[in-house]
Amino acid sequence: MCGIVGFTGSRAAAPILLNGLSMLEYRGYDSAGLAVREGDRPTQVVKATGKLKNLVEKTRGGETLPGDCGIGHTRWATHGQPSETNAHPHVSANAMDEMGSEVVGVHNGIIENYAELKQKLLNNGYRFYSSTDTEVAIKLVDYYYRKYRIGPIDAINRMMVRVRGSYALALMFRDYPGEIYAARKDSPLVIGVGKGETHLASDVPALLQHTRDVYYIGNHQSARLLPGEAHFFDLNGDEIELPLTHVTWSAEAAQKGGYAHFMLKEIHEQPQAVRDTLSSLVKDERIDLSGAGISAEQLAAVQSIHIVACGSAWHVGMAAQYVIEDLAEVPVRVELASEFRYRKRLLGPGALVIVISQSGETADSLAALRAAKAQGAPTLAVVNVVGSSIAREADHVLYTLAGPEIAVATTKAYSAQLSSLYAFAVELAFVKGKLDEGRYAGLLGELLSLPDKMALALQDKERIQWFASRHANARDIFFIGRGLDYAICLEGSLKMKEISYIHSEAYAAGELKHGTISLVEEGTLIVGALTQRDVLEKTVSNLTECRARGAYLVGLAGEDSRAAVAFADFSLLVPETDPHFMASLAIIPLQLLAYYTSVSKGLDVDKPRNLAKSVTVE
Ligand code: AGP
Repeated sequence: MCGIVGFTGSRAAAPILLNGLSMLEYRGYDSAGLAVREGDRPTQVVKATGKLKNLVEKTRGGETLPGDCGIGHTRWATHGQPSETNAHPHVSANAMDEMGSEVVGVHNGIIENYAELKQKLLNNGYRFYSSTDTEVAIKLVDYYYRKYRIGPIDAINRMMVRVRGSYALALMFRDYPGEIYAARKDSPLVIGVGKGETHLASDVPALLQHTRDVYYIGNHQSARLLPGEAHFFDLNGDEIELPLTHVTWSAEAAQKGGYAHFMLKEIHEQPQAVRDTLSSLVKDERIDLSGAGISAEQLAAVQSIHIVACGSAWHVGMAAQYVIEDLAEVPVRVELASEFRYRKRLLGPGALVIVISQSGETADSLAALRAAKAQGAPTLAVVNVVGSSIAREADHVLYTLAGPEIAVATTKAYSAQLSSLYAFAVELAFVKGKLDEGRYAGLLGELLSLPDKMALALQDKERIQWFASRHANARDIFFIGRGLDYAICLEGSLKMKEISYIHSEAYAAGELKHGTISLVEEGTLIVGALTQRDVLEKTVSNLTECRARGAYLVGLAGEDSRAAVAFADFSLLVPETDPHFMASLAIIPLQLLAYYTSVSKGLDVDKPRNLAKSVTVE
């Protein structure tokens, strides 16, 4: 979604803002802009559509915008077409070119009642130059500021009381040179205070090169930022203290680290991401969920589980369903967050709702969490971003320690989430009395062996790169499997679709013959996931049915099934582990297959078209 940055200090603001926006490009955008002010001179606003480099060129790297205080924005259109007029920053004056606006600002989120507020402002003499909800919010702040002759924080608080929706706002007031004001509800916003300067951003990577001690503003809280200072306020305008979070992510962790793309770097970071995540969940050879605040008694009381998520996080849920039901014998229902939030939710006694989200800001998943809480169900979030909205609103949080994930297509966060859910499943099964000590220790041992086995699976990349280059012009690719293999196919198919733009479908292998097999023709590429040996032969026969219709077959299996997949035209073999955990190994060749296919097509692997890293609007 949109990216916001802000800076006030003694250095030139524009270059710092542009660099910060470049670290947020992965959030997806269609235009960008800066507002910079020098002392008490009028604020200058410059905007450009398209890629950030257009704004960099327009401002000669920021040279044309002198000043040590400013805000910046990359816009992912929600209200109003992508255009320079609709790009942020927006101003409180009636026309964009009117210098000396009282309030200038940028916004990430959606103002749901902007139409009624716009009418109110029109009735009070305001005129609008854009079709954005953001312009309405900024003019509303200006309205309260002028009407009640109050300070910025009080004007912002009045706006927050009046507005419905989500926002992370950064504002500059003409009467307050050198200062930036911020306010937040539901959209992410983080503040970093350095020596004699203060930074603001939508996400940590934009701050890391300046400071790693950050504040996360809470809902309906606001901030006044001065050089080297940050003051926070509640909705009553009373100053409050916020906890300082020390970010351990190193600045270069958000860089590519020598890999061609963030995605390839993050694929290779998966062993470490899983190792770090498991190390936070396993103490003295026991799984310890106390960090999430979940007691053994609470686990024992769980009678059913509803896993709610979007996209790849939902695929994690699909895999976890098989693992939890098989080990703990607790019924699991996996639901798309965008469906769960609008359907009749049958959350009976003993129901636990698990929300999985890398960003912790996905609007549908956040809304689903709130819906579950409104029904009184205990909620557990599995999240990768400390301090994110979902993390802070869930009753319990299991943080994955995958580190910053920059590529839009998730890989290491997906794998880290899987490992968290495995640990949860094993502990739940043990607490439910379904595992004896020996089986528990065996499963835990396999769990802890995953990082090394994942590293081994990565070694096959040259073969996969060669194969991908030969099939990069495929028109359709099908991924088929049964049980956990079907869950693996769901993620493998999405990876292929979202970065190579090749149409792909994941299908339960037994379902293919109920219609979709009509699409199989000469040369159709079909990947068969065969890691679950109890259903392997069934899927092999489905694959050979496809070969009879001309399909080109890839067999993906554990190395002990090498003979069983010899029938395939191309095989992908991964190290063996407990069948419950095979998704963590089998997904690696599928991630690499998608990656190298995208690369051989010369596509923007890290920032695929139409996609955003975190979908913070419905
Ligand atoms: C994954 O590759 C996709 N980019 C997308 O499906 C993503 O998993 C989904 O939007 C959920 O995001 P979240 O985990 O941050 O909630």
